[in-house]
Amino acid sequence: MCDKAKLYVYAENEKYHSDAQALAKRLQVECISDMSQTGCQVDGETGSQTDSKTAIQDLILLWGKEGLSLKCGKLSMRGDFTTMIPRVREGKWQHEMLVKASKLKNAQGKLTAIDATAGMGEDALLLAAAGYHVTMYEYDPIIAALLKDALRRAKKVPQLSEIVDRMQLVEDDSITAMSRMDETVDLIYLDPMFPTRQKSALIKKKFQLLQKIESPCMDEKELLEAAVKVRPKRIVVKRPAKGPYIAGKKPDFSFQGKAIRYDCFSFA
Ligand SMILES: C[S@@+](CC[C@H](N)C(=O)[O-])C[C@H]1O[C@@H](n2cnc3c(N)ncnc32)[C@H](O)[C@@H]1O
Repeated sequence: MCDKAKLYVYAENEKYHSDAQALAKRLQVECISDMSQTGCQVDGETGSQTDSKTAIQDLILLWGKEGLSLKCGKLSMRGDFTTMIPRVREGKWQHEMLVKASKLKNAQGKLTAIDATAGMGEDALLLAAAGYHVTMYEYDPIIAALLKDALRRAKKVPQLSEIVDRMQLVEDDSITAMSRMDETVDLIYLDPMFPTRQKSALIKKKFQLLQKIESPCMDEKELLEAAVKVRPKRIVVKRPAKGPYIAGKKPDFSFQGKAIRYDCFSFA
């Protein structure tokens, strides 16, 4: 999270107070009832915001009728898997490059995957649509809270519920978890934040806000080593199209797209 920004939890109204308080307690931050204590003001009815001219822009986790959102000044985001419905429909997910990169030869029975860098879980959703039972690790407590709420809402959406039932979130560091793992896993997926992603003006609003709390991954080597130690059938790594290999390790094969590339390490 950026140094000067403060994080608060805020409930849109009485109904969400207990959820907001529980989240504030977990994150060890203040649960506020007055938005004027912060660097931005929220109009409860519309969710529109006006920046305070003088104060720094604080981060607000807002509990309301739409679920949990993260707000900062004019930026606002929440996890929303319904936007992924067109991509996870039967006949559509098969065309996703990530799904192609994750397709194992002679796969039988229950397929298991670890998404070691879950973020907002969109890639994990694609893997789950392709039939994987995905355990997602996310160590950032704000992102994990947003993802948890997005999963809760997606379970109620008929087109998503069966897919989301195959997704499980663990709020933990995947490097530590994988280092201790003794069960077998078919696939490990890594999408560590790349240091030189596009400048904020060029990326989608919701990702601008994520970049305020995420920092570039500085332990890619440890991440790959922990994944290799689990001995999955395959490790798939998402990279910018022209980005270097993770930890400088040449993959066995890659799937090249216009903006991104999936590097695959095969152990089967
Ligand atoms: C680029 S984002 C992943 C985006 C994700 N693929 C998606 O579809 O939304 C990287 C995420 O991995 C998380 N992360 C990085 N290293 C991690 C680790 N060792 N354990 C758990 N989470 C990690 C970061 O907090 C961040 O949310």
